Amino acid sequence: MRTQRRWWAEHARPWSVFVADRAGDVVGWASLSRWSDRPGYRRTGEVSIYVRSDARGRGVGRALIEQLVASGAQAGLHTLLARIADGNAASVRLHTRQGFVLVGVLHEVGYKFDRWIDVQMLQRMYPPTPHDGLARRARRVSRMRRRSPSE
Ligand SMILES: CC(C)(COP(=O)(O)OP(=O)(O)OC[C@H]1O[C@@H](n2cnc3c(N)ncnc32)[C@H](O)[C@@H]1OP(=O)(O)O)[C@@H](O)C(=O)NCCC(=O)NCCS
Repeated sequence: MRTQRRWWAEHARPWSVFVADRAGDVVGWASLSRWSDRPGYRRTGEVSIYVRSDARGRGVGRALIEQLVASGAQAGLHTLLARIADGNAASVRLHTRQGFVLVGVLHEVGYKFDRWIDVQMLQRMYPPTPHDGLARRARRVSRMRRRSPSE
């Protein structure tokens, strides 16, 4: 119970959790989590999605991932990451349809059913926001001030 409470607390705004509901029955869930506790990574999120086996192949996963992508945009994130176990064709398809691209493979980081599992890393970038521009301009101004002999 304590672990669950902590998990919910870790998903407070700007992070998010969604459930897919079919006539009052939860058939899937999805989360947008912080990638790392370190402040420098605060605009990077990680997505996770799970659809109940009897509800798959009917667009539930797509509806959930669209919510996550929109939620990340609202939160001002810069990029999203997804870890997908090798061989999970449905998940790769689901993510690539939303603009995720393969950026690397972590070899044998998982162990399930008596075998090592490779994990594919997929990433989706958001277009730059005005905040990015302001941050860049602020850095440029502070560099110029440091160089200026009159100050
Ligand atoms: C991956 C998962 C979330 C997909 O959810 P879903 O509701 O079945 O997906 P959708 O019906 O919305 O389909 C999404 C896309 O994947 C494709 N897809 C679905 N099942 C597929 C399969 N078995 N093989 C290949 N593509 C598949 C669909 O055709 C669709 O592509 P399209 O938009 O080009 O038509 C679901 O299979 C699942 O929960 N799997 C187990 C947990 C998991 O792997 N989670 C992801 C970990 S990152």
